[in-house]
Order: sequence, then structure tokens, then C-alpha cells
Amino acid sequence: MSNRGDAVEFSGKVALVTGAANGIGAGVARRLAAGGASVVVADVDDARGEAVAAEVGGAYAHCDVRDPAQSAAAVELAVSRFGGLDFAVLNAGIGTGFGLGDDFDPERYRNVMGINLDGVVYGVHAALPALRERGGRIVATASMAGLMAMPIDPLYGANKAAVVGLVRGLGPVLAAEGVTVNAVCPSFADTDIISGFRDALESAGMPVLGVEDVVDAFVAVLRDGRPGECWFVQAGRPSAPFRFPNPPGPRTATGERVTFHHDVSATPDVPTTGKES
Ligand SMILES: NC(=O)c1ccc[n+]([C@@H]2O[C@H](COP(=O)([O-])OP(=O)(O)OC[C@H]3O[C@@H](n4cnc5c(N)ncnc54)[C@H](O)[C@@H]3O)[C@@H](O)[C@H]2O)c1
Repeated sequence: MSNRGDAVEFSGKVALVTGAANGIGAGVARRLAAGGASVVVADVDDARGEAVAAEVGGAYAHCDVRDPAQSAAAVELAVSRFGGLDFAVLNAGIGTGFGLGDDFDPERYRNVMGINLDGVVYGVHAALPALRERGGRIVATASMAGLMAMPIDPLYGANKAAVVGLVRGLGPVLAAEGVTVNAVCPSFADTDIISGFRDALESAGMPVLGVEDVVDAFVAVLRDGRPGECWFVQAGRPSAPFRFPNPPGPRTATGERVTFHHDVSATPDVPTTGKES
């Protein structure tokens, strides 16, 4: 099992990780277990999911995140097997691979939105009652594609931007209930999801993160994330919350800023330097 960097103690914690049979989710499950957490590995890839669960001494839940009942059952497994829930890592996701032209397919569209967006919504809803009991944390895997334009996969950019918007909006709401919600927004990372264009990335000189680099960001967020923050993960610099500089509204007719909800993840009215993260 992987244990890297400054060891973070997760002893006594119970975590649910969706999409944990492979890639980033499996890495997070391994790191949490290495730190002492009990982990429910949730996925639709039963063979790989059961293997990861056995490796980390956790439990496997077959959980298609498009189905709210299956998210609820995965949370119930965490509570019945391990006594509660501290962390819900809502990570299951797929690439899109088609656009809105002749290649558009409404069924595939509903499928990718169902996994990448509905899966997070249903996961939050299912996990909240158990997380409220213990002052827990939710971390959703969004993407750099949710923070910037994604011309190579605009629908992926749309559902990941939706996850970012969801997390930012939920931040203060759930904080009032003792639950912290964050997003992790990785750049390209070395998992199956990029297998169709890994070579193109490499020949374009685009760095590909190792899974452990992304897992480091999850650990940092689980330790230090403040409500509603969305942390970028990029090669060459440490992960940190994206500050959403200079959001445009709302403002009065004469241009003064109006604050009617405290947006903890925005930094209003900072001078732009062109170097903002
Ligand atoms: N790898 C990257 O470059 C990258 C970058 C940014 C964000 N992400 C995000 O990271 C997350 C994890 O992806 P990954 O890169 O580890 O890819 P991956 O393909 O290795 O893992 C994705 C996992 O999700 C599972 N999954 C797919 N559909 C599911 C469903 N309906 N219900 C439950 N589980 C399902 C898969 O079986 C798999 O185990 C995704 O949300 C992805 O969008 C990945």
C-alpha cells in the first residue's frame, strides 16, 4: 500500500470512494487505508474493485453512481460495516469523446452527465446524513477542465464545470451543517481515461501527472480544504485552492459589489496581474 510524503493519520476514519477500482480512486483508497482509514471501494468494475478492497482491507460495494439507490446502499455499507462515515470521495467519472455535431449521441450524453454530474449529486445526497453525524468531508473529483475551456471535450468541460459550481455553492451551506465540501481539479493524469490521447499529449509536450501526485492533492484537501474550495492539481507547483479572481457580479446599478451569500471560494475585486492561479 502506498504511503507518501508527510504521513497523514486517518486512523479511525471511514471513507467511501467511488470509482475506486482503478486510477485515481484506487490511489486514494490505498493512501487512506495506509493512513489507517476503513475504506468502502465503490465501482461498477467488480473484479478490480473487489481486488482493491481486499488489498486495502476494506469492503467492496457494486455502485453505479447514476443510480441514487446504489449510492445510498454504498453509504449504508460504510455505516453498517465500519460504524459511520467521515469522508465521501465522489470520484467516479468517464471521458466524453464526442461533440455536438454529427457525432452527437443523446444516449451517450445522458450517460456521461449521469456519471460525472448526477453521480456527484446523488453521492452528496446519500452521504450527508452520515457525514453530519461526524462532521465529515466530501471531496468531488472535478478537473482542470472545470476551471478552463476544454475544446477537445466541451461536454466533459461542461459536467466538470457543473461539479465546480455545485461544490462552490454547497460550500457555505454544508459548512453550516458541519460538513466541508471541496473539489479536486487535476490536469491530465496517467490513468485509463487518457489512454486514447496519451500519445498526443506527450508529443504536444503536455506533462502527464502521476496518480500519486493527484492523490497528494486529495490528502492535502482532506487535511486543509476550506468550505467550497476547488483545488487545482498541476505539474510543477503545489496544489492550492483556485481563487476565482474577479467574479463579475452581482453589482448595484452604480457598480458596487452586492454580497448576499458569503462566497468563501472567491476572491472579489483583487487586482488582476495575469498570473492568477
Ligand atoms: N486522469 C485524468 O487525466 C483526469 C483528469 C482530471 C479529472 N479526472 C477525473 O478523475 C476521476 C477518476 O478518473 P481516472 O482518471 O482515475 O480514470 P479511471 O478510468 O482509471 O477510473 C474511473 C473509475 O470510475 C469507474 N466508473 C465508471 N463509470 C462508473 C459508474 N457509472 N459508477 C461507478 N463507477 C464508475 C470506472 O470503473 C473506474 O474504476 C474521474 O472523475 C475523472 O473525470 C481524471
